[in-house]
Amino acid sequence: MQTTFLMVKPDGVQRGLVGEVISRLEDRGLRITALKMMTLDRETAEEHYAEHQGKDFYSPLLDYITSGPVVAMAVEGRSVISMVRTMVGKTDPQEASPGTIRGDYGIDIGRNIVHAADSEESAERELDIFFEPSDYQDHRRVEEDWIYE
Ligand SMILES: Nc1ncnc2c1ncn2[C@@H]1O[C@H](COP(=O)(O)OP(=O)(O)O)[C@@H](O)[C@H]1O
Ligand SMILES: [Mg+2]
Repeated sequence: MQTTFLMVKPDGVQRGLVGEVISRLEDRGLRITALKMMTLDRETAEEHYAEHQGKDFYSPLLDYITSGPVVAMAVEGRSVISMVRTMVGKTDPQEASPGTIRGDYGIDIGRNIVHAADSEESAERELDIFFEPSDYQDHRRVEEDWIYE
């Protein structure tokens, strides 16, 4: 079992896609274990995107990600980190396959609706930035007895 970090970015919130993103996770059988709406301060945004420091898009990316509220969540399931990345689609929505979140809703790499952790290490690091241990709820979905027996 893994936990990944997913965030609906400000453009996703502004376009009313929070419910759509959550629906896709729930429809797939995944379980949200922590959920928070917040506006990122610059320092948190810098920490979250530290790997991109020095790149051309770093400063516009920080402006964008701090421009309005985001919805951050922890999502649990078997192999959920790579599964959610597949559901999110390629970074550039122009290249993302139809059926993915970015491929169904986006056209601009700078406004690509969601963030999802790309590895176990990033998931752990990012979850720690956004959530305290007490933010998590331990629960099971009704069908999990047969999905994860
Ligand atoms: N060339 C680019 N121009 C503008 N924004 C970019 C570019 N590359 C990446 N970004 C932004 O930075 C975010 C982080 O980049 P990256 O980690 O490479 O992608 P991903 O979000 O798919 O993991 C992207 O989701 C996107 O919002
Ligand atoms: Mg990334």
